[in-house]
Amino acid sequence: MYRLTQEQKTRVKDLLSRMTLDEKIGQMNQESVSIVGGFDVPFEELIEMMTDGRISQEEFEKIMSTAEQDYHEDDIRAGLVGSLMVQDPRKCNELQRIAVEESRLGIPLMFGLDVIHGYRTVYPIAIAEAGSFDPDLFTRTARMAAKESRTQGVNWHFAPMLDVARDARWGRVSEGPGEDPYLVSQFARAKIEGLQGDMSSPENYVAACLKHYVAYGACESGRDYNTVSMATSMLYNSYLPPFKAAVEAGAATVMASFNDLNGVPCTVNQYTLRHILKDSWQFPGFVVSDANAIRECVAHGIAADEPEAGKKAAAAGMDVDMGTQIYKKYLREAVEKGEVPLSVIDEAVERILSVKMWLGLFEHPYVPEEAMDRYEVLPEEHRALAREAAEKSIVLLKNEGDILPLQKGQKISLVGELAASREEIIGAWAMSWRPTDCVSIQEGLEKAGATLEYFPCCGPESDIDEAQVQAACQYGDVIVAVVGETDAMSGEASSRADITLPGHQRELLQKLLASGKPVVTCLMNGRPLALQWEAKNVPAILECWHLGIEMGSAVAKVLLGEKNPEGRLASSFPAVTGMCPIYYNHPNTGRPGGRSKFTSRYLDAGFEALYPFGYGLSYTTYAFSDLQVEEQPDALQVTVNVSNTGNCAGVETVQLYMQDVTASIVRPVKELKGFAKVALAPGETKPVSLPLQKSDLGFYNDAGTYLLESGLFRIYVGGNSRDCLCQEVSIGF
Ligand code: BGC
Repeated sequence: MYRLTQEQKTRVKDLLSRMTLDEKIGQMNQESVSIVGGFDVPFEELIEMMTDGRISQEEFEKIMSTAEQDYHEDDIRAGLVGSLMVQDPRKCNELQRIAVEESRLGIPLMFGLDVIHGYRTVYPIAIAEAGSFDPDLFTRTARMAAKESRTQGVNWHFAPMLDVARDARWGRVSEGPGEDPYLVSQFARAKIEGLQGDMSSPENYVAACLKHYVAYGACESGRDYNTVSMATSMLYNSYLPPFKAAVEAGAATVMASFNDLNGVPCTVNQYTLRHILKDSWQFPGFVVSDANAIRECVAHGIAADEPEAGKKAAAAGMDVDMGTQIYKKYLREAVEKGEVPLSVIDEAVERILSVKMWLGLFEHPYVPEEAMDRYEVLPEEHRALAREAAEKSIVLLKNEGDILPLQKGQKISLVGELAASREEIIGAWAMSWRPTDCVSIQEGLEKAGATLEYFPCCGPESDIDEAQVQAACQYGDVIVAVVGETDAMSGEASSRADITLPGHQRELLQKLLASGKPVVTCLMNGRPLALQWEAKNVPAILECWHLGIEMGSAVAKVLLGEKNPEGRLASSFPAVTGMCPIYYNHPNTGRPGGRSKFTSRYLDAGFEALYPFGYGLSYTTYAFSDLQVEEQPDALQVTVNVSNTGNCAGVETVQLYMQDVTASIVRPVKELKGFAKVALAPGETKPVSLPLQKSDLGFYNDAGTYLLESGLFRIYVGGNSRDCLCQEVSIGF
C-alpha cells in the first residue's frame, strides 16, 4: 500500500524547500536511453527508414555498430533527470551513484520498465492469466516479478495494464485482463498487492503504474492510438472501475494513455487527470505520460508547438514527461512567465519525491552486489509458479468425441512451426527472459514421455511444406497442430484488421483434416481469434495463448490428461472479425438479437459470440441446480449447487452475474459481480455461496453520479456468461 509516514512527508517537504526550479523540473523529466552517434536522424526515424526500405537491414546494422548509448550522465549529475528506463543492475548502480553522490541534493533515480507479465520468469500474457479467475495467482506472479526485477535495479513497473478491451483487432488486448470491469478490477487489486504489498524488505516491492489511463481499450476500430468517443456513463461504469479499484488498493503511479477521449488527449485531460483521479479519488501518487505522448499533442492538433503541449500537460496534472525533454526545455520559461503556476510544479515534485521515499530509495539507492546474480539460474520455485499459471490459463474450447485427453501410447504427429518455438511462447512485451529457460510444446511433450514426431509444415508467416504435411498425415494416430500468431502480432502497434488464423494455417488444418485422422488444434495467440471455420471443422480446440517460459510443460500436461483444463475466456471470441467489438456485457437494445430479421443481428453471423466471456470446457462436465437468492439487509446471499457429473475430478468456475432490468439509463444485459472456483470429485455436489452487496447493484449516470435505483433485478449463476440459471428479485433502496 502506497502511504507515507508523517516523518517521510516532512522529509519530502524539507527537500522540496531546498530545490531550485531546474532541479524540480529535473524530477519531472524521465529520460530514455538514447542511441547517439554514427547518424544524423533520430533513432525512431532510423527504424522507420529501415522499415520503409530507405536503408537496408545491413546498412542499419552498420550504423548501429558505430552508435553509442547515451545514459544522460551529465544531466543526472546536474539534477536534471528524475527517472530512466534501464535494466542492467550494474548500469543502474553506476547512474544511481552519480545521482546520489554527485548531484547537489543526492536525490535517487527511479528505474522503470515494462514488466507486464513477468521479469526473468515470464508468465502467461495477462489476457490468459486473467482466465484463471484466480486473484491469489495474480498476486503471487506479480510478487515474484517485483522481487526479480528489483534485484536488477528496476524499481518501477509500467504495469498492471488495466484497459478494459472489447475489440480483438486491437493488438494490446494481450496485455490486459480482458473485457469485464469486475474481473479487471479483481486483477488490478491483486496485482497491486503483489507488486507493492510485501514491504518487509526494499528488495521485495516496486512501484506499480496503472495504465493506460483511460479508455485506451476503446480505440475506434481496434486501431492502435486511435480516437475514443464515449458517453461519460460508459466511462464510469466500464473503463474507470479497474483504475479506481487499484487506486483504492494503494497504487503508487499512473500512466496516461495515448488516445484522446471525447476530443481531449488523455495526456492533457484536466477532467480525467485532475477532476477524477487527483481530486475525486484523491490519488496520492504521481502521473507519468506515455512514451513521447506530450510531443504527440502537437500531432493531435491541440497544441501549436512543444512548449504549448508542455504547458497544457503540466496544467492538467501530468507530473512526469516520459521521453520528450519538453518539460526540461520549456517549463522553466513557462513558470517564469507565469503561464504555469509554481504550485503545479511543487505539487508534481512532492508526489514524485514521495514515491521515491516510499520505495526506500533514499536509504537503499543501490542494488546490493550479492543480489544481482540471485536469479542467474532460475529457482525451481519460480518455474513451478510459471507452470501453475500456465496450466490454469489454458482453455478447452471444443472436444468433440472426447478426443482429448490423448490416450497413452498414441502416436502423435506434432505439426506447426510454433510447436517447436521457444521464442513465440513468451508473448508481447517480455524483455528479460532467456531462451534457455523456455520449454517449447515439442520439448514439453517429449519430456512428458509422449511418442511423437515433429513436422514443422507451416507457421503464421510461412508457406506450407507439402511433403511434411504428407508425412505428418501418415505417421501419427492423432495429429496435434499448433497454430496461431507470432508474439509480434499482438501487443503495441499490432492491430489486425482480419483476426482469423494468419497466413496459410487454416489451409494447413484443411489438409491435415483431409487425412481422416483426428486433429487437435492448439492455439498460440495474443488475442481472441475469429474461429468460425475451425469451430465447425476441427474436432478439438485448446486455447493456449502465449503462456510464458513453461508453456510446453503446461500444454503437454493438459494434452496428456495430467491436468484437467480449468481456464476461462476473459474475452469473448467473435465468429467473424466483422463482429468486433463484441462483449457479453453490452447495453441492451430495443431489439435484442434473435431469430427474426428485424433484431440486432448480422445477416451472415447472427449476434452471439462464438465463445462467450467466462467460457471453457473441462474433461468432466458440471451441472448447476437449486439457485437461491436470499435478501439480507445489506446484501443478497446467492447460493447454488454445483455438481461434477462426469468421470474425473475438476475445478469449475462459478460465475455470478446480474442485470438491472429497469433503470433510468440503458444497462448491460449482464454484468459479472462475483465468482468462485470449486474443486469437485466425480459425482460430487457442493453448495456454493456468493455474496452480492446491495451497494454493488448501482451504476453511474452521465454526470458521474453513482445511483442505486429500486426495481427488478435478475440474478444469474452459471459456468459462463451465456449458460446460466436465473432468478428475479425486487429490491427497494
Ligand atoms: C507504451 C507503454 C509503455 C511505454 C514505455 C509505450 O509505447 O504504450 O505501455 O509503458 O511505451 O515503454
